[in-house]
Amino acid sequence: YKRITTKSLFDMKANGEKISMLTAYDFTMAKIVDAAGIDVILVGDSASNVMAGHETTLPITLDQMIYHASSVVRACERALVVVDLPFGTYQSDPKEALRSSIRIMKESGGHAVKLEGGSEIKESIKKILNAGIPVMGHLGLTPQSIYKFGTYTVRAKEEAEAEKLVEDAKLLERIGCFALVLEKIPAKLAQTVAESISIPVIGIGAGNGVDGQVLVLHDMIGMTHEFSPRFLRRYMNLYEDMTKAIGQYVADVKAVDFPNANEQY
Ligand code: KIV
Ligand code: NA
Repeated sequence: YKRITTKSLFDMKANGEKISMLTAYDFTMAKIVDAAGIDVILVGDSASNVMAGHETTLPITLDQMIYHASSVVRACERALVVVDLPFGTYQSDPKEALRSSIRIMKESGGHAVKLEGGSEIKESIKKILNAGIPVMGHLGLTPQSIYKFGTYTVRAKEEAEAEKLVEDAKLLERIGCFALVLEKIPAKLAQTVAESISIPVIGIGAGNGVDGQVLVLHDMIGMTHEFSPRFLRRYMNLYEDMTKAIGQYVADVKAVDFPNANEQY
């Protein structure tokens, strides 16, 4: 396998090949996802919800993101590994944003960082890019701003917010981001953005007029079951399968059916 790079993603867009991306937060899962042929693995700050059980992405720390990212990096032979900068590690000042990114690159071995926002964090993104660290943007529904939005519903349905989003996307391209995530915005708007910039646009709940798709791994394999937005396609129902398997194990232990004669020394 040839390692996927930021350049490979740019070429995929230019050649009309869609980009596949999933999250992962640990070694064992990342190993499966990488070997199955995914292009990009995102060590998302959704780890805050999926791994730690927090209600939002805000509480996860830089040290915790580095722990998840280093575990994922050790598993990947082919995928490009992108790591989210968690809330509070890049918004206050560009120097802190760079310091946080350097820690991620050095301590986890990840290949790029992702930050939420547009013009507001322009200086931080520039500072990180100047150090040679690739940056992926993230616009639309940006979960680190959930307390500003007050809801997880579709973003940029109104003209003003849509216009700002298009401007932010162009800005991110201009300052040198290698790709952009668009989360939960109208499909038509996402397609317009993808067509108006040359860097790859990866969508989640943003329709199929973009250059690639990302989903949260635990959602798409059906390990989570309470979260069912329209954009989520479940490829497995692991919640049910695991519940059955564990129930069977409990029953087997209680019935002294496990271990049997062949399962002992
Ligand atoms: O943290 C995450 O999982 C993400 C994706 C939803 C894009 O940022
Ligand atoms: Na995220």
